[in-house]
Amino acid sequence: MEKNIFSEYLNKPSLFKNKDVLSVSFIPEKIPHRDNEIKQIVNVLSPVLKGHATSNIFIYGKTGTGKTICMKFVLDELKKIIQDDNKIKSIYINCKMKKVADTEYRLLAYLLRSFGENVPDTGLPTDVLYRKFFKLLDNEKQNIIIVLDEIDALVKKIGDEFLYNLTRVDSELKKGKLTIVGISNDLSFTDNIDSRVKSSLGEEELIFPPYNALELRDILLERSKEGFVEGCIDESVINKCSALAAQEHGDARRALDLLRVAGEIAERTNSKKITEKHVDLAEEKIDLDRVTEIVKNQPRQSQAVLFSIIKTNNEKIMTGDVFDNYREICKNNGLKILTQRRVSDLIAELDMLGIVTTKVISKGRYGRTREISLAIENKVLDRVKKILKENFGE
Ligand SMILES: Nc1ncnc2c1ncn2[C@@H]1O[C@H](COP(=O)(O)OP(=O)(O)O)[C@@H](O)[C@H]1O
Ligand SMILES: [Mg+2]
Repeated sequence: MEKNIFSEYLNKPSLFKNKDVLSVSFIPEKIPHRDNEIKQIVNVLSPVLKGHATSNIFIYGKTGTGKTICMKFVLDELKKIIQDDNKIKSIYINCKMKKVADTEYRLLAYLLRSFGENVPDTGLPTDVLYRKFFKLLDNEKQNIIIVLDEIDALVKKIGDEFLYNLTRVDSELKKGKLTIVGISNDLSFTDNIDSRVKSSLGEEELIFPPYNALELRDILLERSKEGFVEGCIDESVINKCSALAAQEHGDARRALDLLRVAGEIAERTNSKKITEKHVDLAEEKIDLDRVTEIVKNQPRQSQAVLFSIIKTNNEKIMTGDVFDNYREICKNNGLKILTQRRVSDLIAELDMLGIVTTKVISKGRYGRTREISLAIENKVLDRVKKILKENFGE
């Protein structure tokens, strides 16, 4: 029989027992080190079981501190215990999801559809949608819980008026009761929203602290028991992933990514065990993928700005220096030359993405300028340069 090109892979022993368990979207049965947080959410929401009103909750904490997983876990548990589906409904929305929360219309349409309403993709005035929504909520005695995850992204896209309207809807309901749970990665999120929204959303506030290395270790141990074949991973590897992620900001997502990618690299290189060396390689790969992904997805103007920063490449790069290179790149590529002000905005965006870091420096009576430095590691930088060179035909 002729050898199949896949047969080698079919017979190759895998290091993974169940890779899904190591993916970011998996919800494990046990969630170590979040008992308190879960209990607090449950305490606030539990009156719905008796048909009573609850407070709105505002949850915040840095990325990877377990906000999403805890909230989903609580909603799952709630669903299991509810006897009458019509009396308590919960809707989870990740506001970063494209086509769901990028306009007020889409968001309302999404909410209405999750109640089984037919809503056209466009065309109706939003106040018609609000009225429909209000009627739906109020047509019987029921509790509705709406979870708006990554609510900071929502407000960035469509402002806070939607939240204001939602909290107002709640105060006008006669039969139905609405609870809003807002989750934000951005700790300063409430600084810039309408104070009425702020006080209404923040009736109960809950902060998720970063995990320390020991806590991350427990989380990874639990997941790796299910995820990997026994004996192919040492504790030193788990310790290393935890330590690296703890240095960052106690990000469990980072820790899990390191572990899973280390496993993938070990497997691909036919290693029988996952070692600390694989974790180092995983760290490099994750950074490379993250940065190149961001760079590739930037609009052309931002790419041009980044390219001009890279070309300027001094110890200390000032906004003014960048502009000369930027102008040159635009001319060569038929791009419109934006004002220095806009370029400055684009640089600030690159800062938010973690591609560059900037520091505003006061120059006394000469005003202020931004000092820019690249936040990309050398190895990754080579790859970024290559992408940009290709894009700008150099
Ligand atoms: N206490 C925990 N136990 C198990 N896994 C966790 C825990 N906290 C976070 N994780 C995992 O880490 C990743 C990031 O958690 P997530 O809830 O998405 O963080 P956040 O929403 O705060 O950014 C997810 O894959 C999640 O499964
Ligand atoms: Mg989250």
